[in-house]
Amino acid sequence: MKILLSGGAGFIGSHTYVELINAGHEAVIVDNLYNASEKVLERLETITGKPVTFCNADVSDKEAMRAIFAAHSFDAVIHFAGYKAVGESVRKPIEYYRNNLDTTLTLCECMREAGVRCIVFSSSATVYGPIETSPLVESMHPLDCTNPYAWSKSINERILLDVCTAMPDWSCALLRYFNPIGAHESGLIGEDPVGVPNNLMPYITQVASGKRERLNVFGNDYNTPDGTGVRDYIHVVDLARGHVAACEYLLSHKGAEIINLGTGIGYSVLDIVNAFQRVNDVPVPYAIVERRAGDMDSYYADPTKAKTLLGWQAEKTLDDMCRDSWRWQSKNPNGYRD
Ligand code: WQD
Repeated sequence: MKILLSGGAGFIGSHTYVELINAGHEAVIVDNLYNASEKVLERLETITGKPVTFCNADVSDKEAMRAIFAAHSFDAVIHFAGYKAVGESVRKPIEYYRNNLDTTLTLCECMREAGVRCIVFSSSATVYGPIETSPLVESMHPLDCTNPYAWSKSINERILLDVCTAMPDWSCALLRYFNPIGAHESGLIGEDPVGVPNNLMPYITQVASGKRERLNVFGNDYNTPDGTGVRDYIHVVDLARGHVAACEYLLSHKGAEIINLGTGIGYSVLDIVNAFQRVNDVPVPYAIVERRAGDMDSYYADPTKAKTLLGWQAEKTLDDMCRDSWRWQSKNPNGYRD
């Protein structure tokens, strides 16, 4: 297969690129590098031993995207490109809806013109909304999203479901990620947040490296075993392999499928902190502080459908996630800005 990765220089996209090449496929990355570093490309060439085909373009730029589709014969598209900071989306809804919807609509128009009929979409578990009961199943009716980022993911799902209804020879996988962490075993690629990390694991790794003084644990009065928030952490390499399985599935199936990509195991914040300290033999000082607005008690996947439909399940352990996250941080104290 030859796959176009929109936003392929990002955290999930770069790891998916590696797994596609490992599986014997060809891949082309298009990225405007708004939230990614060009240094990823040389790292990908080192990991795969092959040159990377990279197009520096904005996925919402129709003329640029038409030229890319004209230059290649793609079998499928994996659509990662989009803004992804929950808090920022609340402050900048216009930019989030403009960017996250335009990229999808432009890709669909270019695919239709080029006769490309398979698309995998990078969705998110946040589209379920503030559902109190986990595990979360794809058939559940979502509640209202709680921020423009999550709404943009939900609206993109709606767009792609309607496109597949209108064009029955299309196939689409809407992959609902839970909490991706970890990094490629080489330590050459990983999560590279700009500024203060919003997410737990990059904050932990920066505390462990001494870049930050301590971790603030957002509340320990949740309805969970140790009172701290429970989430479904999934190794980014497992997540990437789920995208490969989804692409291969779409080539022989029509229609749209919503699929959770999670482990089905919930770990608390303190579970992660303790595992990280144990596996890496490095202290992570922390303090319990007040809850973060909008956080849920517990949120984890029912991963059954991915196993049944795609023959995929997460295989890496929490220890793997902690070890690989630390290796990336240790080898790249300032991410790709070193
Ligand atoms: C995990 C747990 C926090 C930071 C977010 C996005 C979601 C998705 C995944 C894109 C929670 C606690 C965190 C910290 C803490 N991204 N925490 N101190 O909120 O589950 O999901 O990332 O799709 O859209 O919402 O992930 O890593 O922010 O938080 O105590 O400094 O860690 O309260 O319980 P979250 P997270």
